[in-house]
Amino acid sequence: MKNIIEKINRLKKERNAVILAHYYQDPQIQDIADFLGDSLALARKARDSKADIILFCGVHFMAETAKILNPEKIVIVPDMEAGCSLADSCPADKFKEWIENHPNHTVVSYINCSAETKALSDIICTSSNAEKIINSIPKDRKILFAPDKYLGSFLKKKTGRELELWDGTCQVHIEFSEIELQKLSAKQPEALILAHPECPPNILDYADYVGSTSGIINFAKQSTGKEFIIATEPGVIYEMKKQIQGKQFYPVPNLDGCSCNVCPFMRLNTPEKIALALENLSPRIELDEELRLKALKPLEKMLELS
Ligand code: 13P
Ligand code: SF4
Repeated sequence: MKNIIEKINRLKKERNAVILAHYYQDPQIQDIADFLGDSLALARKARDSKADIILFCGVHFMAETAKILNPEKIVIVPDMEAGCSLADSCPADKFKEWIENHPNHTVVSYINCSAETKALSDIICTSSNAEKIINSIPKDRKILFAPDKYLGSFLKKKTGRELELWDGTCQVHIEFSEIELQKLSAKQPEALILAHPECPPNILDYADYVGSTSGIINFAKQSTGKEFIIATEPGVIYEMKKQIQGKQFYPVPNLDGCSCNVCPFMRLNTPEKIALALENLSPRIELDEELRLKALKPLEKMLELS
């Protein structure tokens, strides 16, 4: 492992590369990263980066977003197969049909979607800014929201707006077990429940706080509470333990009763693949320029607003 880390650090310097990583990455990768963040922070960091190469340790839509914002930079990933069930649920051709069947709607897409789907949208949001984005749309406008129906239904409750929802879900967040959550909460009665809005309503109904990964970290940091039950991918707990001393964090088990709600796509990335990607400058995210410009518009709108 020591040799791999040395190799990564050497290649990073030689290539003037920066490693951006999401909180759901394996702890080994979180330790290697130059910057860790949620989807919004990572998009901002990618936009502002001075490096020549961005190595993105997350999933495909995140690296693609970095490329949309940085056409002149080389954006590489450790594993091109690292996708996302939400992005996969919303193919652009079906999405286009849906939009055509709902004329006169503002189209809001969660950042967990492909460049093609972004290009068909009016504005993008992340879990950090979704409420703000919905509230920025004039009250008389009807709204289509894709692809996460659970984030969408949470936003309907929060904003009081009528949203038409695409039928997509995150395959990780739908696995949390309500029964296991109840058992854990009975065992740790003082623990506050912090959940990601990709969870279904039967989990969110128990939550003391609902927010993005960085929202969850910040809530636990600022709270006077000492114990927290975490209903999101447990990778985030690694960073919580680093940033917050003297507090306890418990992951919510999934339906099998284990604490293994790791995102199988996020966890495809390994230090060995990072070293290889830096050596070969591949696999690389490439985008057709016309598509990039179309996808850039709704992303820029989001960045202006948040
Ligand atoms: P955040 O933007 O909250 O980090 O979420 C990203 C994600 O993919 C959650 O599953
Ligand atoms: Fe996609 Fe869910 Fe994995 Fe996030 S946790 S990248 S939404 S599959």
